[in-house]
Amino acid sequence: MFTTTSFSKRSSADVLVLPFWHEKNKAVPAAKDIGSLGKDGLEDFKGLASETTLVYGGKKEKRMLLLGLGKKSECNAEVLRKAFGSASSWTRSLKLKSVNVVLPDDGDAFAIAEGFALNNYAFEELKSKKEASFIKKVTFIGASKAQLDDAKRAGKLSEAVCFSRDLVNGNADDVNPQYLAKVAKELGKHPKVKTEVFDKKRIEKEKMGLILAVNRGSNRDPHLLIVSYQGAPKDKEHTVVVGKGVTYDTGGLNLKPTGSMEEMKTDMGGSAAALGVIKAATLLNLKVNVTAVVPTTENGIDALSYKPGDVYKSYEGTTVEIFNTDAEGRLILADALAYTVAKLKPTRIVDFATLTGAIVIALGEERSGLFSNNDKLAKELEEAGNRCGEKVWRFPLDPEYKDLLKSDVADIKNCAKREAGSITAAIFLQEFVKKTPWAHIDIAGTAFPNKKTSYHPTKATGVGVRLLINMLENAQN
Ligand code: BES
Ligand code: MN
Ligand code: ZN
Repeated sequence: MFTTTSFSKRSSADVLVLPFWHEKNKAVPAAKDIGSLGKDGLEDFKGLASETTLVYGGKKEKRMLLLGLGKKSECNAEVLRKAFGSASSWTRSLKLKSVNVVLPDDGDAFAIAEGFALNNYAFEELKSKKEASFIKKVTFIGASKAQLDDAKRAGKLSEAVCFSRDLVNGNADDVNPQYLAKVAKELGKHPKVKTEVFDKKRIEKEKMGLILAVNRGSNRDPHLLIVSYQGAPKDKEHTVVVGKGVTYDTGGLNLKPTGSMEEMKTDMGGSAAALGVIKAATLLNLKVNVTAVVPTTENGIDALSYKPGDVYKSYEGTTVEIFNTDAEGRLILADALAYTVAKLKPTRIVDFATLTGAIVIALGEERSGLFSNNDKLAKELEEAGNRCGEKVWRFPLDPEYKDLLKSDVADIKNCAKREAGSITAAIFLQEFVKKTPWAHIDIAGTAFPNKKTSYHPTKATGVGVRLLINMLENAQN
């Protein structure tokens, strides 16, 4: 998708994108050497962030898109992703295929390319008429070799994000536990990846009682997927990404009401992130060791459903009183986390889960919730989030919160009443990770937000993939 050339040698394209800063209330070219192009007739165009104006009558390109980047002093990667995402969206809406781009001086080609590549996506599998148009070629004028390399890597990372988005956007009856197992096996064909799929029998043999409890109300068997990417065999670091894979959440016997169930095909967003991380590692050929662990099942409803008030025993031995069958994510994660700690020798664990409605009340759709028993890991994730735009906000895990999960009949309850709902969920998970550095990221608000943006053109964002890859790549340096 991405290439480079010089301004004078460039070949024709459907549109030329010209960036501008907003300074002293007017537009100022954001790149040297663009000659007189676009400098005239700019009274109405101010160069505000993501502002666009179309001009006809270029030479090699029939159209020029003037693109505002806001004030130079306020520009950052997110401003660029959003602005070039808008340029991409505009280009696609006119069904144009090729774009020449003048880069702003010292431009962050990675972020600019992400804007294009993350926007260049649609989900039309379930429509009989396919209408989306895609950009085929983006030429960065005057880009250095390093900038072009950055752009190409951004393209690959975005491909992994789209892989994750496809899983979240898909029908629950298609993207079911068996399908996720197929995807995991497909990833396992890469020479650096090894996939293991636990079927129901194996899950029974391992005594993963909480995964089995949640699965009782479903006609489909559960799976535990273990997908290991080994990119640095000599390195002791081993990051395990655990992802909640509830392919449909009815709530179980504590059935969700109308208005709360309609988006529950997205309750496997955590598993999409975890598998997307492995996809990205293969595409980018990362020099790290990272394993995705995905417990996956439906939370259905049936005569055999697990029951509020009953007690089930976890893989790790702790007994759990089911206070609410709709708090199912933490149950399957508990068995997956405990298995990870016991068998996979992780140096750190990050789990992604669409875990609580309470996190949406607290943070809306802007940030994911972060919970961690390790300040260093938490800081790395916060910084990665700020760099890549998948921002997180850390919540406390004071031991006092654990009192809310006391049970009369078992070691612990799976949930409490409404207060601090996201924290008590994280406190429950923490019981199963022991001392391993661990972070839990609640993506209930960010995996499938109502608001689409310039670089998230469908509701499924694929959140988590760029966050984790950004963290891993930085830890490398
Ligand atoms: N999958 C839901 C959380 C969710 C809510 C995800 C909204 C995306 C959007 C989770 O399994 C759930 O039902 N959580 C309950 C927990 C409660 C019963 C303690 C919730 O948040 O209401
Ligand atoms: Mn639920
Ligand atoms: Zn759920």
